[in-house]
Amino acid sequence: PLLQPRGLELDPVKRAHTLSDLRAAAGKRVPKAVFDYVEGGADDEISLRRNRSAFDRVEFSPQVLVGGDIDTGTTILGEPAELPLVLAPTGYTRMMHHAGEPAVAQAAAEAGIPYALSTMGTTAPEDLHGDNLWFQLYVWRDRGFTKDMVGRARDAGFRALVLTVDTPVPGNRVRDIRNGLTLPPRLSLSTLLDGATKPRWWWNLLTTEPLRFASFDGDGSLAPSDIGAKMFDRDVTWTDLAWLREVWDGPLVIKGIQSVRDAKKAAEVAADAVVLSNHGGRQLDRGPAPLELVQPVADEVGDRLEVFVDGGIRTGGDIAAAVGLGAKACLIGRPYLYGLMTGGERGVTKVISILREELERTMRLVGANAITDLDRSRVRLRA
Ligand code: FNR
Repeated sequence: PLLQPRGLELDPVKRAHTLSDLRAAAGKRVPKAVFDYVEGGADDEISLRRNRSAFDRVEFSPQVLVGGDIDTGTTILGEPAELPLVLAPTGYTRMMHHAGEPAVAQAAAEAGIPYALSTMGTTAPEDLHGDNLWFQLYVWRDRGFTKDMVGRARDAGFRALVLTVDTPVPGNRVRDIRNGLTLPPRLSLSTLLDGATKPRWWWNLLTTEPLRFASFDGDGSLAPSDIGAKMFDRDVTWTDLAWLREVWDGPLVIKGIQSVRDAKKAAEVAADAVVLSNHGGRQLDRGPAPLELVQPVADEVGDRLEVFVDGGIRTGGDIAAAVGLGAKACLIGRPYLYGLMTGGERGVTKVISILREELERTMRLVGANAITDLDRSRVRLRA
């Protein structure tokens, strides 16, 4: 036919072939301050860029003439998962799209993968439903309140607790400061001007549930860094892990480990897993790229706990590489938010299905039929 149907497709979710297509579509749908909040990193964004460029070092060693079926299934924290993938906790998800966390949880449940609700989420643990939900915890100065939050997550059926340890104070997110971002967003001349081109986003924001934190009462409209600086306990130490073990008896994940040294400490306190992570480059700038820590950490503690990794994962090939180097699973943050911003739950589902197809294709091309075939005989990091 003369007219190519693909060229006529107006639905940005259907049009997207890659996560970068969804990223571009997302940028057109939400106000700049919101997109920058998702996209930005701390300080000079060196970690943010390195997280991504570390994947340029990946080199596969394919095994040919393997044949057979591809199975991406695995287990994560002892539960079956259809992919070695977890949707990471992200704050203020209703700001990206009015459907918020319930849409993300639904997409994750349908795809058979876990999703972690953030302490800074905009849906209460009681209101979120899914098969395999985790709760991400920031320890509050008020320990009674912290314990309460953990109890609410347990009572609501959350399976795992994820303690984030890379945020004793909020990182210096320069884009948010320049944009004057507050949570919830405040009307200003610039948000009004930008919002005039995104009427649907504003309409949804103003007509659906109020944008407030689900786990605590916010204090009016504040800059994100002020919220963290006010509430987070910067004096949390390894000795507090014993306390946390008393109030939470399910699987415990420590997120934000950035060295072999601390991964060993996590194993000593009997954590069930660590997430090698620099918070997507949003906290300390110029820490190591998490991908480069996978192999040394897996070698040191991989027999005692599960090693997860996040930061810069944007393709199924990236997942194959991280798993091959020794990760049990990968987390993604920004990528599913691109999908959410573009098309709500459908967009998140699209992100997961793109990653699934890319992972399957990569497995086929490197000659790995099962996730357990992805090992260091198939992937290495070039010097
Ligand atoms: C985050 N991240 C995060 N982590 C966490 O433990 N608690 C939180 O509330 C948040 N909030 C948050 C908001 C936004 C907008 C982003 C982008 C990230 C970090 C997140 O869980 C994850 O570590 C990174 O997003 C991983 O990097 P990529 O996949 O975004 O490159």
